[in-house]
Amino acid sequence: MAPDGQTLAPNVYDAEPIPEAARAEIDRLLSSGDLFRYTAPSDAPVALLEAEFAELLGARYALAVSSCSAALFLSLKALDLPAGARVLIPAFTFAAVPSSVVHADCVPVLVEVGENYRVDMADFAAKLPGADAVMISHMRGHTSDMDAIMALCDATGVPVIEDAAHSLGTVWGGRNIGTIGRVGCFSFQSYKLVNAGEGGIMITDDPEVAARAIIMSGAYETNWKKHPGLTNSCAHWQNKLPLYNLRMQNLSAAVIRPQLPLVAERVAKGRAGHDRVAASLNLSEHLAVPEALGPEERAPDSIQFNLMGDWSDAEAVAFQAAAKARGVSVQVFGLSEGNARAFWNWQFLGAVPELPQTRAMLMRACDVRLPTRLTEAELDYIAAAVVDAAKEVRG
Ligand SMILES: Cc1ncc(COP(=O)(O)O)c(C=O)c1O
Repeated sequence: MAPDGQTLAPNVYDAEPIPEAARAEIDRLLSSGDLFRYTAPSDAPVALLEAEFAELLGARYALAVSSCSAALFLSLKALDLPAGARVLIPAFTFAAVPSSVVHADCVPVLVEVGENYRVDMADFAAKLPGADAVMISHMRGHTSDMDAIMALCDATGVPVIEDAAHSLGTVWGGRNIGTIGRVGCFSFQSYKLVNAGEGGIMITDDPEVAARAIIMSGAYETNWKKHPGLTNSCAHWQNKLPLYNLRMQNLSAAVIRPQLPLVAERVAKGRAGHDRVAASLNLSEHLAVPEALGPEERAPDSIQFNLMGDWSDAEAVAFQAAAKARGVSVQVFGLSEGNARAFWNWQFLGAVPELPQTRAMLMRACDVRLPTRLTEAELDYIAAAVVDAAKEVRG
């Protein structure tokens, strides 16, 4: 707050403090030096996190690793896809996603995304024949039509990995996102609902996938015995799979565990904050926040909206500057230099196909962070700044 009581532009990049409860556990770990997940015979913080996360999501198995990217990579390896396997991914996602596919010696096949940020089902159905796996990024928490995707994939036996990096707490038709496909992967990197700086976790009900991922994450020798409930499968795979050593360490788990009981409250606050800003933006003739699909209950910590009408690139750039002048950073995905969410910047893939629908969306889709800690006054400030910036440019 400014001294006169007026709200200043909030800093949306600051993180929230880590709950106090983490401190005692971190002190205990620092004094004992017990940082490696496999040192203690049982109940290591990473193992406790896995049990708690699996229970929270309603999954049989959870494996905590160094990042969501590592979880995506291990998921593909655990599915035992052959080198050169074709993996469908949405063309609107973060560069880490096609990177995980390349890392697993597979070939990403980019699927068009609509102006509502969700997978274009006609393009998906056209590209599914010949695909060996599907990795659905619920980008910025926007859930594609999981009923249609699962129906098509189940009919052809193609496994689905959910990239739920931004979707902790999102529900689809009453089911937690991340539990609908064969594997679900989540991120604990700082700009996510649960912040450990870095970290990721994968969940699955498939004991074979879980066992293979556990071994490849770095459960060397008989350390798999510290992952309960998978004795036969893990014993079978010991020494038969490479060790990629992507384990999580105990300090990360100590930071994450006290945040899990806060997820429900953060989801409720995030949704209320998002919907409050969305209602204001939708009153502007120049802006529109796409509706979620019917079965989705969102858990947002950012907002995406489209510039409506025939905006030129120059006007979209001027709009970003006008918002910035009011203290609010708006990112038009396709207009910011080298943006890692614009598929044409993924030069490591070689020649990327032309995807006109996704390109058009990215050139007019805007992104603003709305951390769940923001007050109503701060949310209103952001909404007014964005609406006024659009008015300044478009009249
Ligand atoms: C959609 C999406 N998937 C996966 C990742 C990778 O997450 P991590 O940073 O934990 O590797 C990110 C990173 O932000 C992301 O945005």
